[in-house]
Amino acid sequence: MKSLLVLWVFMNLDVLLKTGLCQDTHDQILSITPHTQEQVEVVKNVSSQYETALWQPASHQYIKEESEVHLFVPATTLETVKDLLQRHSITHEVLLANTNELIEMQTRNDSTDPRSGSTFYERYHSLDDIYYWINRTTQEHPTTLSTILIGSSSEKRPLYVLKLSLNDRPNKKAMWIDCGIHAREWISPAFCLWFVQHSLSFYNINHDITSILDNMDVYILPVMNPDGYHYTWTTNRMWRKNRSTNKGSNCIGVDLNRNFDANWCTEGASPEPCTEIYCGAFPESEPESQAVADFLRSHKDTVQLYISIHSYSQMLLFPYSCTLEEAENHSDLLEMAGAAVQKIRRYYRNSYRYGAGAKTIYLAPGGSDDWAYNLGIKYSFTFELQDRGRYGFLLPPSFIPQACNEALIGVKTIALKVIEKT
Ligand code: ARG
Ligand code: ZN
Repeated sequence: MKSLLVLWVFMNLDVLLKTGLCQDTHDQILSITPHTQEQVEVVKNVSSQYETALWQPASHQYIKEESEVHLFVPATTLETVKDLLQRHSITHEVLLANTNELIEMQTRNDSTDPRSGSTFYERYHSLDDIYYWINRTTQEHPTTLSTILIGSSSEKRPLYVLKLSLNDRPNKKAMWIDCGIHAREWISPAFCLWFVQHSLSFYNINHDITSILDNMDVYILPVMNPDGYHYTWTTNRMWRKNRSTNKGSNCIGVDLNRNFDANWCTEGASPEPCTEIYCGAFPESEPESQAVADFLRSHKDTVQLYISIHSYSQMLLFPYSCTLEEAENHSDLLEMAGAAVQKIRRYYRNSYRYGAGAKTIYLAPGGSDDWAYNLGIKYSFTFELQDRGRYGFLLPPSFIPQACNEALIGVKTIALKVIEKT
């Protein structure tokens, strides 16, 4: 009898593991809400001293009372962390009990599986796949799509911008979209690919994309942080920064969205290389941010709209994030963001918060959106795509179509308004 039981357990080990009977053997995402200042300190310590990855907020210095913290805890530290929380009567909820399975799901490439109905754009792609896609797509659309090499990353990978241009009207304006500033936000590069595909397939079919492309060129940077993105595919799925080495420190990487020259390295960024929000040695110290800034400086007379795509939390933000002051055209930006969010809600029944960055989430200086705004691109937005934290950065591929369509309708709404206003 006993040996039968052992045999049964053995045969079903996989199922038992998956259904959670042995949950603590998997990496998990915990949702923790500290209620007192003492609990805040404990959560800060847990997230900074133990081998964990803070998903939300971006850095432990933003942790405060009554606001939800999402923490990635590897199986090896899970028991210690849960004990600590319990000892300080801090309750937690397991958001995801088995992240290993989700990571596997995100990197699985079903392209050769004939049963899989998902297309190229409904999957996540490695950096090599994306470079290949850039190459092939430009070759297939020689008259409308071209690539511009704007620089290279700190590990010397090329930074390609795609230029979508459907006609040669004189004095044509332009918009810019970048994706993948933060390495682990995989839905972001997926959106850039989605946008290009939509534009190429629906020009002259869909009314909105047709009038946008009739009036504007679009510059698309599918992966601003290729080194970091590659690293999330090969080594650490939770990596956020780029991969440059820092003088005088063993810690790697600069937060590219703290490295632009907009109240650089003030409150909301960190001068400490080991943090997730390290601002770098000086503004534009990183080749990735410098390449983007150089390109936008030399195109500032045509680019009227700047858009940056991040995840997660479902928000639509506009300047300023680097100060609590209001942008000069705040009411314009507010109205445009409101219209975009309303469209998303109506078409996809999903809600996004919107507003000036500093007041909507937190002070975060050195961001690309604020910098582009100060350069003179008066319509500047940052999208935080799906979801709200159920899957966070590990958003399953089956969510890609809706997440991208939501952003797409938001971008289109804003771009049409910019065309109308200028
Ligand atoms: N979650 C993004 C970040 O921390 C917010 C970006 C908003 N814009 C900004 N300039 N901070 O980078
Ligand atoms: Zn981000």
